[in-house]
Amino acid sequence: MKVELAKGVYWVGAIDWNIRFCGSYNTHRGTTYNAYLIVSDKIALVDTVKPGFEREMLKRIEEIIDPSEIDYVICNHIELDHSGAMPKLMEVAENAEVIASKAGKEGLMLHFQQDWDARIVKTGDTLSLGDKTLMFIEAAMLHWPDSMFTYLKEDKILMPNDAFAGHIATYHRFDDEVGPVALEEATKYFAVIVSVYSSLVQKKLKELKSMDIPIDMVAPAHGVIWRRPETILEAYDKWSRGESRHKVTVVFDTMWRSTEIMAGEITRGIADKGVEVRLFNLRNSDWGEIIKEIVDSRVIVVGSPTLNMGMYPTVGGFLTFLKGIRPPNKKAAAFGSYGWGKGAARAINQELKKMRFEVLPSLEIKYVPGKKELRECYDFGQSIAESVLSED
Ligand code: FEO
Repeated sequence: MKVELAKGVYWVGAIDWNIRFCGSYNTHRGTTYNAYLIVSDKIALVDTVKPGFEREMLKRIEEIIDPSEIDYVICNHIELDHSGAMPKLMEVAENAEVIASKAGKEGLMLHFQQDWDARIVKTGDTLSLGDKTLMFIEAAMLHWPDSMFTYLKEDKILMPNDAFAGHIATYHRFDDEVGPVALEEATKYFAVIVSVYSSLVQKKLKELKSMDIPIDMVAPAHGVIWRRPETILEAYDKWSRGESRHKVTVVFDTMWRSTEIMAGEITRGIADKGVEVRLFNLRNSDWGEIIKEIVDSRVIVVGSPTLNMGMYPTVGGFLTFLKGIRPPNKKAAAFGSYGWGKGAARAINQELKKMRFEVLPSLEIKYVPGKKELRECYDFGQSIAESVLSED
């Protein structure tokens, strides 16, 4: 079945139902690789698909035109899930001109060792296809140096590649057909892939506004096409500003369950103040899901038993992952149990400070929490909740 976004604008991508890890996180709902065919006097293909899915893409194109008739292949991003089908495509569309950013052209050469003599475009450059006009907007580091957006003027469709994307495999192509899960997956995608560049997201959103380009549809390179673009544009604005809710995310690992028991009491103390809370054991949780919950949390609470005067390796690994992402405007606190010497909370706090979090007081208890210590954990949770509520 042909999927038409507007007259002469088609989705010709591929659905990857079974991918369970993509780049840096678990994709438990699979994904799609979205490519868009624009048919006017001239024909342009915006992005391609991952290697292995060339046939699926070409079949969709063949339902509309003969692929050898493609005049332009726009490479918004060189990462292989979007450019990987180019070698096979360029064999078929042998007269097509490749269009990319400057870094995109260099990257294509380094990825494929093929000289497609790509035309370099900059922000504001346009390409007329006849009754349709493409405009290009460089978007370096959203999320690679080569990234760029393509804007289809007459139909007011923004094709921003990985920005505004989400990993979800579905036969539905539009956000309103999929329901809340579309935004849920977009949140996870933003959290893990894009949030490290939050300040650039803010700049790009302002740039789009100043360019005064109306956007009726946001058509990214993974997941759903946003037919209600304000949903994703407003969400990106909120997330990239680090806007949070009355919410705390608690993560921990445990040795003999003392830190786990502490985590439970702390969580109870937080919840009893009416603050939303999420609790994750790092050992058996999907870290991408945790990062997704952190996006709109005001406080992150990290628990670890002391091991060899430091924190548990799983906790260290998670903090390394989180440090790469550096979510803005967060408070954080550490807790854990120890045997004969403290150390985990100090080590955790050092990492939290490196992430420029506002570090709250810690709680450490010796061996196993008894009645008094359990009360301390509960009160610790209550004080964290109060720090959440005090901000309003
Ligand atoms: Fe940056 Fe979807 O690849």
